[in-house]
Amino acid sequence: MLDHGQAPPVSPASSPAAAGPRNPLLRRKPVEQLVAEGGHGEGGSLRRSLTMWQLTMISIGATLGTGIFVVLGEATPIAGPAVWIAFIVAGLTALFSALSYAELAGSIPVSGSSYSYAYATMGELVAWICGWCLVLEYGVSVAAVAVGWGQYLNELLDGTVGITIPETFSAPLGEGGYINMPALVVVLLCMVFLLRGAKESARINSIMVGVKIVTLVLFCVIGFMGIKAGNYTPLAPLGVTAISTAASMLFFSYIGFDAASTAGEEAKNPKKDLPRAIMLSLLIVTVLYCLVALVAVGAMPWQDFEGSEAALAQIMEDVTGHSFWSVVLAAGAVVAIASVVFAVLYGQTRILFAMSRDGLVPKAFAKVDEKTGTPRINTIIVCLFCAVLAAFIPLGELANATSIGTLFAFALVNAAVVILRFTRPDMNRTFKVALFPVTPILGFVFCAYLMYELPWLTWAYFGGWMAVGLVIYFLYGMRRSSLGLTALAAAEELTDK
Ligand code: ALA
Repeated sequence: MLDHGQAPPVSPASSPAAAGPRNPLLRRKPVEQLVAEGGHGEGGSLRRSLTMWQLTMISIGATLGTGIFVVLGEATPIAGPAVWIAFIVAGLTALFSALSYAELAGSIPVSGSSYSYAYATMGELVAWICGWCLVLEYGVSVAAVAVGWGQYLNELLDGTVGITIPETFSAPLGEGGYINMPALVVVLLCMVFLLRGAKESARINSIMVGVKIVTLVLFCVIGFMGIKAGNYTPLAPLGVTAISTAASMLFFSYIGFDAASTAGEEAKNPKKDLPRAIMLSLLIVTVLYCLVALVAVGAMPWQDFEGSEAALAQIMEDVTGHSFWSVVLAAGAVVAIASVVFAVLYGQTRILFAMSRDGLVPKAFAKVDEKTGTPRINTIIVCLFCAVLAAFIPLGELANATSIGTLFAFALVNAAVVILRFTRPDMNRTFKVALFPVTPILGFVFCAYLMYELPWLTWAYFGGWMAVGLVIYFLYGMRRSSLGLTALAAAEELTDK
């Protein structure tokens, strides 16, 4: 009856869920079953090849990009010189949730990330909603990020060969063009590399992450020489509320720290390494963000950020007096943003892999290619979908919709930590959140607050997105759910007797 790849140790038919309720609101997937199924797909298994450092690089790869290179420039005119405080506020929200992610990733090290944690705690419908939000966090954000890539590519082309891609081919409909070719190309390039396998992907990712860290450190060193103390005062010219508005915008720059948790089934030592990788990556990006923001607003008056599309490159040029350095910055940004696209696409494929194994999306997403040990068809579908989205949809609304979906998923993860501590106190936890239950509750509250801060239009987009997701679930996922089908088979068996 079941046509989805299952791991042998705990077969669904013998698992506690087999006799579980058929009501999707109530049916939950036992942690043991989630873990036992780990790695197994249709016709093959994912390969365990990733080390702690590679996992950290995946998270940094997915995190550090458009937020610091592009959104910083948009948030500074809102927050003023206090933009670095806005980074701290957004970072704190991420920190509470990161602790929760670390606890769950260490105890349920599978590829589904928060989707799988929700399945174990709050039932299938909530898990689906969470997975659907993850498509916003990963799939849709890739498109938003790829759009930002085009801006820096133009900056780079301008500085090196003196030409730029005309707006007709570098902006989507509604923003003065027809198609965003750079965005389309970067997603397709990433697809080619992702198809080569997890180990190879991790190697390429680590190189790109190295380049972007070096670029930002270089920016700090050069920008530091241009700091004028007067640029820091007044600290919050537009008020404290403006800082929190900027913080909810900048939250986008933290999206992705959880990406390591999508590699749970390809990690060599997931229980230990996943929590470490999540915390370490968040620490590294937060320090970098605050330093870059402090240097940037010190070197350029906050009002000058208005309308400056590549503010960091501009600062490099102003401080040194040479356009060469702005070209170096632009080149670093091109690599940085491409690496976000790369790592986030990776995460999206692995989440859909887990959802497919559970029957909630078509089984093609869980098919593993024997040669490379990767979900090949899944990767191609995801990349083509994101490429089309990136090529035709404007960045603004996408970026905001991404944040709200992510915040929702993070809120659920914080809730899942609390629930599991009560329902499964016996579970093996390699990492535990400090100050339980204060930390996950604060994580939940911060997420809810930042969601509240987002404009009503974003909520409208989010509502529409959720409505589509629910229709898909009730028409497809609910009927094809492996857990549901197993429960149905068990009930029929009982009736026959
Ligand atoms: N955090 C990612 C970025 O800033 C989405 O590009």
